[in-house]
Amino acid sequence: MPSFRALVVEETADKRFIRRIIDRTVDDLPKGDVLIKVHYSSLNYKDALSASGNKGVTRRYPHTPGVDAAGEVAASDSRLFGAGDAVLVTGFDLGMNTDGGLGQYIRVPAAWVVPLPAGLTLKQSMIFGTAGFTAALSLLRLEEAGVTPAGGAVLVTGASGGVGSLATAILAHSGYTVSAASGKPAAQTFLTDLGAAEILDRQAVQDTSGKPLLPARFAAAIDTVGGNILAFAIRSAQYGGVITCCGNAASPDLHLTVYPFILRGVRLIGIDSAECPMSVRLAVWERLASEWKIDALERIATEISLDEVEEHLETMLTGGATGRYVVNMQR
Ligand SMILES: NC(=O)c1ccc[n+]([C@@H]2O[C@H](COP(=O)([O-])OP(=O)(O)OC[C@H]3O[C@@H](n4cnc5c(N)ncnc54)[C@H](OP(=O)(O)O)[C@@H]3O)[C@@H](O)[C@H]2O)c1
Repeated sequence: MPSFRALVVEETADKRFIRRIIDRTVDDLPKGDVLIKVHYSSLNYKDALSASGNKGVTRRYPHTPGVDAAGEVAASDSRLFGAGDAVLVTGFDLGMNTDGGLGQYIRVPAAWVVPLPAGLTLKQSMIFGTAGFTAALSLLRLEEAGVTPAGGAVLVTGASGGVGSLATAILAHSGYTVSAASGKPAAQTFLTDLGAAEILDRQAVQDTSGKPLLPARFAAAIDTVGGNILAFAIRSAQYGGVITCCGNAASPDLHLTVYPFILRGVRLIGIDSAECPMSVRLAVWERLASEWKIDALERIATEISLDEVEEHLETMLTGGATGRYVVNMQR
């Protein structure tokens, strides 16, 4: 069997985690119906956690991270896919305890595989990747809750990160007025170019007052960071406001009273991209390939090679990521 290159994270005897790029063989991959030659992957916050030994994400090492992969089917035992098909995989167990997209081949169950939607190239699908899928799923849930552009401003937190920048761009592209909250003063132009109407400094959305309610400002919010900032978003929602929660880059904690819910009818919606059912998954990818295919897609991304992944993992862990890192796995 041919060998291929993969990032491998290993746990040393003294509980440190080291990362190396090594040659592996297809025979080493887990069992599955579909063998995929990976053309592009991407970096997500979860990949940085897996690559640094976070046992909440990856229990067993050695391990190849990468929750995203797009490429062509090399071999298939499923009648749903044939050799040469262009496909993508995001989430499920990929890159968690199943060897992931930061290897040049993956083998996965057919139930995880999405045909590449018409209208997207493999690279574009990975610029979106899990981050774009999560941003889009968040907007879908807002729409289902009745949020419209006419209702008022939508707050996006962690706005310069992967999910945040794509949420900002997709919302603006869809006619929403976006208030983008970021900890990076240098990201102001980047966010304005994506269509943000207002940039808020992270400090301005970091409420520790303990007040049950704050002045009502936002019709909705896509929160990617959790903690005090999510509490701020909930306390600052207008009557009937809708908040989605997908991340914990700031904190997994959430300290609140019930007042935003019982006095303003605020709704809080949890977002999980990993186990999202296939019917919803296909519908979200269809929209990403059509009405949510933003003009800024290529601008949002920095293309890197597998050899350059290492230097960007640390950036992600320290909250320094801007936009998306798409990994060309064949470079
Ligand atoms: N539920 C799901 O299915 C799902 C899917 C994808 C991602 N996520 C989660 O969503 C979050 C974002 O993921 P990502 O891939 O977009 O990560 P990312 O590219 O690293 O972006 C995270 C952004 O959060 C902000 N941030 C970082 N540390 C912070 C802190 N201590 N306090 C406040 N803000 C901070 C920064 O943006 P600014 O500098 O602009 O503030 C950073 O760029 C992560 O928590 C991730 O686990 C969840």
